[in-house]
Amino acid sequence: MKRKFKMGLIGLSAAFLVACSSGSGDKLTVGTDAAYAPFESLDGDKIVGFDVDLLDAVMKEAGLDYELKNKGWDPLFIALQNEEVDAGISAITINDDRKKSYDFSSPYFESINMILAKEGTSIKSAKDLEGMKVSVQNGTTGQAALEKMFGKSENIKKYENNVLAIQALLNGEVEAVVADNAVVQEYEKNNPDKKLVTISDKENFESEFYGIIFPKDGEHQEEINKAMKKIIDDGKYTEIYKKWFGEEPNVDVLKQ
Ligand code: ARG
Repeated sequence: MKRKFKMGLIGLSAAFLVACSSGSGDKLTVGTDAAYAPFESLDGDKIVGFDVDLLDAVMKEAGLDYELKNKGWDPLFIALQNEEVDAGISAITINDDRKKSYDFSSPYFESINMILAKEGTSIKSAKDLEGMKVSVQNGTTGQAALEKMFGKSENIKKYENNVLAIQALLNGEVEAVVADNAVVQEYEKNNPDKKLVTISDKENFESEFYGIIFPKDGEHQEEINKAMKKIIDDGKYTEIYKKWFGEEPNVDVLKQ
């Protein structure tokens, strides 16, 4: 009787251990700031976008279970530092400054900053923004590009997300927004009633590449890079790119 009872307990604890070590414990948490269409935005309570489809393809290829969470931009970086998330995907530019605190995957998208302004604007290049009120999302490369040209300034208005930065232009609080080209072009295209124009400046803005971001010395970079390379080579990346941008990507720039 006694012996039987003991066996039962051992059996139960073994089952408990198995249940704990598989399932939810292995799920990676990936953070984003879902206010940056067409890369990540909310459709109801669903996060959709190029980054979302790309992440899904990469994680499937790598055989990793994950959950994508809408953390917001500044909180995402804090969550990475605290290792509350295992990774982030959010149209995040790989740069030397960030590389000091985080790791990145291989590049998956080429981007450049661009100006969004109202029709009839006198702005022709980034230099024309000097002395004007311009909005950016706080802590983005758009902010960094402006500060590099003009120094830190009261005229650079920083918002928690890019939707609010665009709102400031619509409200007349600023004369222009600086953000990633695909994002401002998407906004202009989808909102013809707002009568906006985009202004590119390939001399004063630099080409950038997005990467998946990880806490420093995280565990998953290698398998994710392998999966990224695979989907770029096997056409899955091209399929996702065409779905969101309606044209063929130049995958060679990602391989340099
Ligand atoms: N590429 C720019 C940067 O890394 C802007 C990214 C903003 N992303 C977002 N989901 N709001 O600074």
